[in-house]
Amino acid sequence: GVTAKIAPSMLSSDFSNLASEAARMLDCGADWLHMDIMDGHFVPNLTIGAPVIESLRKHTKAYLDCHLMVTNPLDYVEPMGKAGASGFTFHVEASKDNWQELVQKIKSKGMSPGVALKPGTPIEEVFPLVEADNPVDMVLVMTVEPGFGGQKFMPDTMDKVRTLRKKYPSLDIEVDGGLGPSTIAMAASAGANCIVAGSSVFGAPEPAHVISLLKNSVEE
Ligand code: DX5
Ligand code: ZN
Repeated sequence: GVTAKIAPSMLSSDFSNLASEAARMLDCGADWLHMDIMDGHFVPNLTIGAPVIESLRKHTKAYLDCHLMVTNPLDYVEPMGKAGASGFTFHVEASKDNWQELVQKIKSKGMSPGVALKPGTPIEEVFPLVEADNPVDMVLVMTVEPGFGGQKFMPDTMDKVRTLRKKYPSLDIEVDGGLGPSTIAMAASAGANCIVAGSSVFGAPEPAHVISLLKNSVEE
């Protein structure tokens, strides 16, 4: 079966102390570190890119789960691979014509490919990428509109997670946006196993408690 992965979103961390924030989350029981790459074009916000991943990689061996909210994901594959990214998740809306080339290139750079979709994108759009001879390893179902942390979880997106889990029993399914103690049950029962959580973890007095609560909510 699939294993639970809790991935704090470093977007909610103190970027001026990224290495120590990463170490703190790993101490608190994080499995992965979720890194939100935004280009100010695919989404109306600008965050970090390969240079910051490269700097962080010098301080940690952790799995860096990189979520690319960018218009031209192909341009980022080589720099992100060199920087030490572990997972490279691109958006299906930004890869209509070249997802096969993207997946091949991501794997050739030693990274694990994932595909993300926005709340308004039908789930059918990712089926070909999961069923391909050279498939993605993970589907990221956005549970808020991408661009910002701290937004409200959209329960309607759980139909997509249920559909995916029914069709693909061993697929890694990640959810991202508005996840925390009050929404994890919906995501876990729908079948998500990789849980991104930003504000609920970083805003908690004891992040370790939230991380263990999230982890214990996902059935293995
Ligand atoms: C939103 C990002 C998320 C975000 C999640 O575009 O993809 O990873 O940081 O933050 P919370 O958990 O606060 O919704
Ligand atoms: Zn994200």
